[in-house]
Amino acid sequence: MRLILLLCGLQALASASQHRQVFEIPSAIQNETSIAQFTSTSTPLDAPKAHPINGSAFDWWYFDVVSSDPGSLASVVVTFFASSQPAFPLLHASNNVLPVRLWVSFPNGTLAQAEAFASSATVSTEGDNSSGDWHGTGFKWTKVSSTYTIEVDAPSVGIKGSIVFKSTAPAHLPCGAVVDGGTLQVGPHIGWANAVPDAASTVNLEINGTALVFEGSGYHDKNWSDQPFTTHVASWYWGHGRLGPFTLVWFDMLDLNGVEHVSAYLAKDNQIVTASCASQSISVRPTGANNASFYPPVLSTPNPTGYHISLDLGNKTRMEVDVNVLVNLNEFNPAYARVVGNMSARVVVPPGARGKTQADLQGMALFEQFKLIK
Ligand SMILES: *[C@@H]1O[C@H](CO)[C@@H](O)[C@H](O)[C@H]1NC(C)=O
Ligand SMILES: *[C@@H]1O[C@H](CO)[C@@H](O)[C@H](O)[C@H]1NC(C)=O
Ligand SMILES: *[C@@H]1O[C@H](CO)[C@@H](O)[C@H](O)[C@H]1NC(C)=O
Ligand SMILES: *[C@@H]1O[C@H](CO)[C@@H](O)[C@H](O)[C@H]1NC(C)=O
Ligand SMILES: *[C@@H]1O[C@H](CO)[C@@H](O)[C@H](O)[C@H]1NC(C)=O
Ligand SMILES: *[C@@H]1O[C@H](CO)[C@@H](O)[C@H](O)[C@H]1NC(C)=O
Ligand SMILES: *[C@@H]1O[C@H](CO)[C@@H](O)[C@H](O)[C@H]1NC(C)=O
Ligand SMILES: *[C@@H]1O[C@H](CO)[C@@H](O)[C@H](O)[C@H]1NC(C)=O
Ligand SMILES: *[C@@H]1O[C@H](CO)[C@@H](O)[C@H](O)[C@H]1NC(C)=O
Repeated sequence: MRLILLLCGLQALASASQHRQVFEIPSAIQNETSIAQFTSTSTPLDAPKAHPINGSAFDWWYFDVVSSDPGSLASVVVTFFASSQPAFPLLHASNNVLPVRLWVSFPNGTLAQAEAFASSATVSTEGDNSSGDWHGTGFKWTKVSSTYTIEVDAPSVGIKGSIVFKSTAPAHLPCGAVVDGGTLQVGPHIGWANAVPDAASTVNLEINGTALVFEGSGYHDKNWSDQPFTTHVASWYWGHGRLGPFTLVWFDMLDLNGVEHVSAYLAKDNQIVTASCASQSISVRPTGANNASFYPPVLSTPNPTGYHISLDLGNKTRMEVDVNVLVNLNEFNPAYARVVGNMSARVVVPPGARGKTQADLQGMALFEQFKLIK
């Protein structure tokens, strides 16, 4: 594993990142100290960021697509994990740290899912290109320039086909655009890099003989840490979607000390409109009946029927977004919900300011909520 080299020699990195780098990840939990990278360097965003995967470490590559058709509930999520189960308790108990999981919803909201464990994984990066192969699962991704393709040939779980992501919005880090030296912590010891906030995506899968074919808004990020997820997270709201010409990514979490950490991202025409982790940049709060008792969320709090997102666009202009739950994508779990929903939004300009309030932006979103404390 050459990640050590990446984490140490900053000078070497600038040139090294253009060269082909190959990382082999074993499937067993490693009995060593894990090193996590929390500051951006010229290391490619898709390179592993926590190494090795000991009993406290997680590092994973997440992809999803939500249909852009407001009449469809179709979605797909694929996550390539390198995570010990104690580090991320929502994984099924296993000594193998390399599960790939897929979750889909059909246009009518019917769900299916699959899981396969790799014998080892290979991640490689070369300039803008990257690839990941979870050996023995039939799941892999390749990225060439700004297009990712996930290919699946997994007869053992009944899945075959491809998912293509043509990136349409600039990558970002928790506090803004991708820059050397930028923080990679979206919360304490929670590494996050959003390589693809939005993509023109095409899903072409066959699931036990049933076709799932749709187009939509694609997304790819990765999360990692050298500490168990539950050591630092009390609750969080995350999601993404497209609203007319805008791409929105929201993140709003509470750590175990009750401190709120946020990350706001809005893009238009393949340019960042705002990307910030300043505390006033965004707020995400539950809506619906009894909403006052939904925040801050704890395990016993029912899941809300929606959220209100208020995003600061500067000069007292805000985007006000209402998100509405349409279908839950996982079986009920008090700690975790992943959802497809619809959104409506307005850009609100203060009275007397130049510009006009833009009404009635509509779109579909894929979003999630964790609540981990009593
Ligand atoms: C880690 O330690 C455990 C317990 O001693 C052992 O069973 C396991 O094989 C070790 N793992 C590795 C990768 O060396
Ligand atoms: C893994 O490495 C981290 C970071 O050094 C350390 O804090 C943690 O105790 C290690 N976990 C295990 C189970 O060895
Ligand atoms: C929903 O769609 C799936 C996939 O096409 C199909 O198998 C299932 O029968 C449908 N369910 C209903 C209730 O129509
Ligand atoms: C990325 O892959 C393409 C297609 O294989 C290749 O032409 C290109 O040179 C690669 N880019 C880098 C930086 O290696
Ligand atoms: C496909 O069918 C097999 C056999 O019934 C089942 O084990 C598997 O879970 C199915 N796959 C999906 C993705 O539903
Ligand atoms: C973390 O990982 C999950 C996948 O389990 C993904 O939905 C989410 O985008 C990631 N978010 C952050 C902020 O790390
Ligand atoms: C919050 O709940 C109260 C009381 O049920 C209700 O009047 C109010 O409309 C709700 N607010 C939102 C934003 O959903
Ligand atoms: C805020 O308004 C000033 C003056 O009209 C303008 O120069 C500036 O670009 C605006 N900033 C933003 C973020 O829109
Ligand atoms: C979601 O769609 C329903 C049905 O079309 C509509 O009544 C509702 O207002 C939408 N909600 C949002 C937040 O856009």
